[in-house]
Amino acid sequence: MAPTAWSAIRLRDVSIPNRVWLSPMCQYSADAAGAPTGWHLAHYGSRAAGGAGMVVVECTGVAPDMRTTDRDLGLYTEEQVAGHERLATLISSLGAVPAVQLGVAGRKSSHGVPWSTAGTRHPVPPGEGGWQPLAPSAIPFADLAVPAEMTTRDGTRILEDIARAAANAHRAGYRVLELHGANGYLFHEFLSPLANRRTDEWGGDLERRLRFPLEMVRALRTGWPEDKPVIVRLPAEDLLEGGLSTRDMTTVAARLGATGVDVIDLSVGALVPEAPRPAEPLHTARYGPQFRSTGVLVAASGAISEPHHLDEAVPELVDAVLVGRAMLRDPYWALRARDRDPLESWPRQYHRAF
Ligand SMILES: Cc1cc2nc3c(=O)[nH]c(=O)nc-3n(C[C@H](O)[C@H](O)[C@H](O)COP(=O)(O)O)c2cc1C
Repeated sequence: MAPTAWSAIRLRDVSIPNRVWLSPMCQYSADAAGAPTGWHLAHYGSRAAGGAGMVVVECTGVAPDMRTTDRDLGLYTEEQVAGHERLATLISSLGAVPAVQLGVAGRKSSHGVPWSTAGTRHPVPPGEGGWQPLAPSAIPFADLAVPAEMTTRDGTRILEDIARAAANAHRAGYRVLELHGANGYLFHEFLSPLANRRTDEWGGDLERRLRFPLEMVRALRTGWPEDKPVIVRLPAEDLLEGGLSTRDMTTVAARLGATGVDVIDLSVGALVPEAPRPAEPLHTARYGPQFRSTGVLVAASGAISEPHHLDEAVPELVDAVLVGRAMLRDPYWALRARDRDPLESWPRQYHRAF
């Protein structure tokens, strides 16, 4: 029988109870040490109790200067590992698989939190709590600081940071690891000819621009056990003249599959703020069949907000969906979307409500 969005899926040794997952979403609510707070426990715990089969914790920095803001979570100190362990244990105890997205922000780092007066486009310079961003080339993202072009030494350091953060995620009890390779983060910057103008071995044609991103995946795998799956979030295309095409990205997906990546989590655009932002339901999931032809499992987020979108998405377009804003609006979105007898699916503690 063909799977539905509610069918379990097995990735390596991890069985996920359904294919409706919480999409990673920055909460900008870490404490001063970059560790999870009560907000994270309440926020992720309620989505786990709310029926998401997997809860992907927001983009978490592999090093202090690889975060977007100083309120991002990190996974580079013991204090952070202890906080993530509490979070992963809570998510598991509520029946969902705990996952975390690791991020290397590149030129998008060192900005303000969205609700600061100046918003996320506001650079925070060194000396005011910020730091110098690093990127493949010295091309800024919008009004943020001009990044320093990464040296080979910076590259080696970043790969070590990734390996350590992956090992820390494992120690904290996460069962699935996602690497952020989209939305204009460092991985995406290396891939896109619009952000990577290097003339050394990390720049040039797609094959060369792919070298450092593949190293990032290999580094991740050195810290993360073989029996646990890896997901990479990738743009389906840049939607920009001269940018990455879907054909480029299916080539990248195939190479990632051959490098031990289990699932490609599709996103689209977002290399620069001016990139078109599709809004129609399932806009990114519709790229799914092209990416599935590479043999790798495919998941997608993007305007999945109604229960019938799940039926349209799985299994025709993708193997799993990630739901973002709809689950911000309603932590119990998945339980409601499932539309079963509430006494079968809702927590027992709430049965008297029905
Ligand atoms: C508040 C907020 C924070 C986000 N933070 C992240 C993030 O940390 N990592 C990421 O890959 N995408 C992030 N995104 C993108 C979402 O994960 C998702 O891909 C996007 O919102 C599209 O899905 P949706 O239409 O279901 O919201 C964020 C989106 C929102 C609204």
